[in-house]
Amino acid sequence: MIEHILATFASRPNEYISGGELGERLGCSRTAIWKHIETLRQQGYTIEAVTNKGYRLLERPEVMDIEKIKASLRTKVMGRSIIYEPELDSTQNLAHVQVHQGAVEGTVILTDEQTEGRGTRGKSWHSPRGKGIWCSIILKPSIPAQFISQLTLLSAVALCRTISQKLGIHIGVKWPNDLLADGKKVSGILLESSSEDDRLNYVIAGVGISANLTLEDFPASLHDKATSLRLLCGERIDREQLFCEFLLEFEKLYELFTESGFAPIRSLWEAQSITINRPVTVQSAQGQISGDAVGIDESGALLVKDDGGAVTRVFSGDVLFQ
Ligand code: BTN
Repeated sequence: MIEHILATFASRPNEYISGGELGERLGCSRTAIWKHIETLRQQGYTIEAVTNKGYRLLERPEVMDIEKIKASLRTKVMGRSIIYEPELDSTQNLAHVQVHQGAVEGTVILTDEQTEGRGTRGKSWHSPRGKGIWCSIILKPSIPAQFISQLTLLSAVALCRTISQKLGIHIGVKWPNDLLADGKKVSGILLESSSEDDRLNYVIAGVGISANLTLEDFPASLHDKATSLRLLCGERIDREQLFCEFLLEFEKLYELFTESGFAPIRSLWEAQSITINRPVTVQSAQGQISGDAVGIDESGALLVKDDGGAVTRVFSGDVLFQ
C-alpha cells in the first residue's frame, strides 16, 4: 500500500493529490490513507497536507553519510569508534549491549531512525528517519554515581555551545537538560548508567537533536512544544558536520571535567541557563516546590529559594516557569 502511494507521488511530481483520489486508486478509505501518510512521515518523507488540495511529497529521507563523518571528525576519543545502523529501536539499547561486549569509552551509536526513542521520565522521543541526530555516547568516568547528573549538564552545555557557535541560534537550557529556542524544545539528553555501590561502571549519554524536521514531521501534539534547527534557521542542516562539531565540543568539555571537576562546567551551564533568576515550580520526587531558581550547586542540583528565604536542593524534576 505504502509503495503504491509513493509510486503515485513519483508519477506526479510536485502535484497535490487528494486523500479521496488516493483512496479510490488504492481501494481504501481517506482515514486509511491518512494513516499511511503518517507512517511515511515517520519514515522520513516530508509530505505537505493542504485542505481542499490534498497531499504533496516534498522530500525523501536522507541517509547519514558515515564516510563523511569519519573524514571530518577531529576528536581523539569521542566517536573514534562509531556504530551506525539505519534503524534502531533506541540507540540507548544498542549502547548497553555494546558496553557489555567491551566497547571502549567514546564509542558512539548513531542511527537515522528510532522506532522506540526514549525521553526522560518514561516519555517517548520522536525520531523520524533521516531528520535528526539520534546518538548515544559510551562514557566511563571516574566519578561517584551520585554526580552523574553533572554529565547531563555537561552534555547540555556542549550542545548549546555547538549550536550557538556553528549556526548562530541562541539556545537556552532549562534545568536540567531541556534545550529550548523560542520556548520550544529542539534537543534532549537522556543519561542512563550502571553502578555498583557508589562506583559507576558506565554512563550512556543519549543525545537527540531535531535537526531537519519540518512542521509536517512533528505530530500535531508537539507543534507548540517542539521545533527543529532547520525551522529556526530557515535552512537545511548539514547533520554530519553538526554531529562532528558536537563531538569535538563534547570531548573538550569532558576533558575539562576530568581534569578540573565540575566547577568550570557549572559556570558554563549557568551562562546558557534560562532557569536561573526566574520564579519556578518544580515537580520532583520530593514533591512540588515553588520559589526563585537561584543557581545550581557543586553536585548539579537546582537551588530553589522560597518566599521565606529557605533554599531547597532539587536533584531531579520538571521545571515549570511561573
Ligand atoms: C528528553 O526527554 O529530553 C531526552 C531525549 C533523549 C533522546 C535521545 S535520541 C538518542 C538517544 N536514544 C534514545 O532512545 N533517547 C536518546
